[in-house]
Amino acid sequence: MHEDQGKHTPILDYHAVSFSQGRMDFAWEELSDEECQQLYADWTAGKGLIGGHPLHRPGHERLPDWGLNRPFFRAFALGDDRGWNGERLRAALASDRPLEIEIGFGRGDFILDRARRHPDRLFIGYEVRTKAARLALDRVDRLNLSNLWISDDDARVNLPAVIDDGRVDAIHVLFPDPWWKEQHKIKRLFSPPFVDLLAVKLRAGALLHFKSDVEQYNELVRHLVGNHPAFTQHQPILADRIGSYAVTHRENWCLRRNLPVWASYFERKEN
Ligand SMILES: C[S@@+](CC[C@H](N)C(=O)[O-])C[C@H]1O[C@@H](n2cnc3c(N)ncnc32)[C@H](O)[C@@H]1O
Repeated sequence: MHEDQGKHTPILDYHAVSFSQGRMDFAWEELSDEECQQLYADWTAGKGLIGGHPLHRPGHERLPDWGLNRPFFRAFALGDDRGWNGERLRAALASDRPLEIEIGFGRGDFILDRARRHPDRLFIGYEVRTKAARLALDRVDRLNLSNLWISDDDARVNLPAVIDDGRVDAIHVLFPDPWWKEQHKIKRLFSPPFVDLLAVKLRAGALLHFKSDVEQYNELVRHLVGNHPAFTQHQPILADRIGSYAVTHRENWCLRRNLPVWASYFERKEN
């Protein structure tokens, strides 16, 4: 189902973008026990984090001035009392509003639209590209949204540090970078420890929503998530929970070129 442009004034101005389809040789195979152990060790060591571990950045305990007193946060700057950011985020998270998260929102078309459609829910968007996060923050202001928070932290660090276990009602990971090259694979979001993290943060019955234009990435995700004890197999019917939505920039790019996209929907099981 795609954006029903008739119902809502579009907030999106899709324009030509320079996406390339890249080399479509995304290879994966079932991990041996040793490879799996290595992935967990790399995860614990913080390998593959985009921009490195935020704790190693100078000034990590302070927010940038442009983010003060706006719905912007970083895991290790929640105590920056020059602004209300940390206090208000904690209050929002302590409420019983359903929480949806998007990891790697890019331009933010999907999550901005979703936050506007569902003012009763709380949203958090992660985007490691600071410039893109800042642009999305400007759009949050322009749209007068009071239910969407933005972070430019790597979600793999921020989620464990900021979000309580079992707090999240839906996680959307839409068109994540495939990281084609062997030496970059470590940056791929989906790996066994990442799926463990999603399982811990989602409440029982919650939705995990994945999309990609790389068929093999979708296969990998179905393999990793569908075989994880905390999740059901992919269930197409779960797509109904999303309802009408605005496509992401990447999905729009694919649709315009008649390129296929693959979607997977999983439910977090009871413990
Ligand atoms: C291929 S783009 C897709 C953007 C958008 N979802 C779309 O469909 O147009 C993937 C995005 O995820 C972001 N990203 C990659 N790894 C991330 C991470 N660990 N945490 C947060 N954002 C991440 C990248 O900066 C990039 O903007």
